Amino acid sequence: MRVSVIGCGYLGAVHAAAMAQLGHDVVGVDMDAVKLAALTRGEAPFFEPGLPELLVEASSTGRLRFTDDISAAKGATVHFIAVGTPQLKGSNAADLQYVDAAIEQLLPHLTAGDVVVGKSTVPVGTAARLAARIAEHGSGAVLAWNPEFLREGFAVKDSLAPDRIVFGLPPEPAGAAIAEAALRGVYAAALAAETPLVITNYSTAELVKVAANAFLATKISFINAMAEIAEVTGADATELADAIGLDGRIGRRFLGAGVGFGGGCLPKDIRGFMARAEELGRGESVAFLKEVDAINLRRRQRVIDHVVDLLDHEPFGKTVAVLGLAFKPHSDDVRDSPALDVAVRLKGLGAEVRATDPQAIENARRQHPQLDYRTSFEETVRGADVVVLVTEWDEYRYLDPEVVGALVSGRNIVDGRNSYDPARWRAAGWTYRGLGRP
Ligand code: UGA
Repeated sequence: MRVSVIGCGYLGAVHAAAMAQLGHDVVGVDMDAVKLAALTRGEAPFFEPGLPELLVEASSTGRLRFTDDISAAKGATVHFIAVGTPQLKGSNAADLQYVDAAIEQLLPHLTAGDVVVGKSTVPVGTAARLAARIAEHGSGAVLAWNPEFLREGFAVKDSLAPDRIVFGLPPEPAGAAIAEAALRGVYAAALAAETPLVITNYSTAELVKVAANAFLATKISFINAMAEIAEVTGADATELADAIGLDGRIGRRFLGAGVGFGGGCLPKDIRGFMARAEELGRGESVAFLKEVDAINLRRRQRVIDHVVDLLDHEPFGKTVAVLGLAFKPHSDDVRDSPALDVAVRLKGLGAEVRATDPQAIENARRQHPQLDYRTSFEETVRGADVVVLVTEWDEYRYLDPEVVGALVSGRNIVDGRNSYDPARWRAAGWTYRGLGRP
């Protein structure tokens, strides 16, 4: 099928390449010249395992190209909207300007039978509004909503072999039939592999996405709330998570207590959901998300408190080695990153912060040029008074406490991801502090 993908960020770039790989004829459209040049050369504009290989392979088929000219979308049957919906400045709400602009720019190039497919994360009700705009324009195109669940770091796998597919179809049967047929064509390979498919209406499809992210955020903040209780009772939040996670109804995944969630999705999505619920007169229904957000942000302070405590409450001039800057491993994304936030705030307290990350230094430097970034692990920890793990890259998870101990000035470690065995570090003479661990 001929497919256009409007917006070639994390979501769009991976989706465009995956669509081409699956046999479709794809044009990706974006305004960012640097990003387009990289994608055209078959290079990933951000760190995503497997994406460079996928881009090279998909480009070599001749079925994948990128342009800044939206008129290239003309002739495609399916037009994916994959632009960003960041948090509005000074508000919890999502900024829909890029989605609205994408639709306006696409309108003149639509013809009857085309299907515009929303993938961006939007406030519930957006699809109905956009569908009305498309109908008003009179091209005969229809709109479907098809949320995306890919995780950074696993985006290629999640795009080629998703764990579920959701079609939010228009209310009119004729439009719904056109949209469903087109989407079935696009996802033929995944559907043939019996990927679960949920066919529903616009509102449900929009809500599936924010509800899933709200649930994941709640699960993380739940265990972090338990960690807060553990901290005043001597309980161990990781053992607690192991034990409750054995209940099949609960499950162990996303019960990792630590410095909390970040990234370009979970934080802004729960805030956007709260803002939308307020608009709908149902603010109280998701008021708990305010607590989810608050618990999450408190965990960053807890890490800082541990560091300050280990420095005898005199952080000024002390050397702190921060391991990790990305919001999670396998990503160079520092949007709303707890790790970068901790590094910046420790620096604000007067500590000599040295920060490192296998992939995210350049992105972190763009946001916070004032930090001292080191590419070498040894240089980061040499002479440190405290070592802080905030992003659990494999490079840091399997450290030998004796080897690191020989480099530092003080054997003090704050394990912001509960990644280490406390007994092993203590046996090597370290003062170990985890989160919600005795
Ligand atoms: C998240 C969702 O998992 C995807 O399904 C969704 O498609 C995506 O948002 C999106 O909306 O586009 P992602 O932001 O890539 O994906 O990251 P996650 O793997 O969900 O991790 C989010 C944060 O939670 C990270 O900072 C991670 O360190 C933290 N986390 C995760 C914990 O603190 N504890 C855990 O147990 C698990």
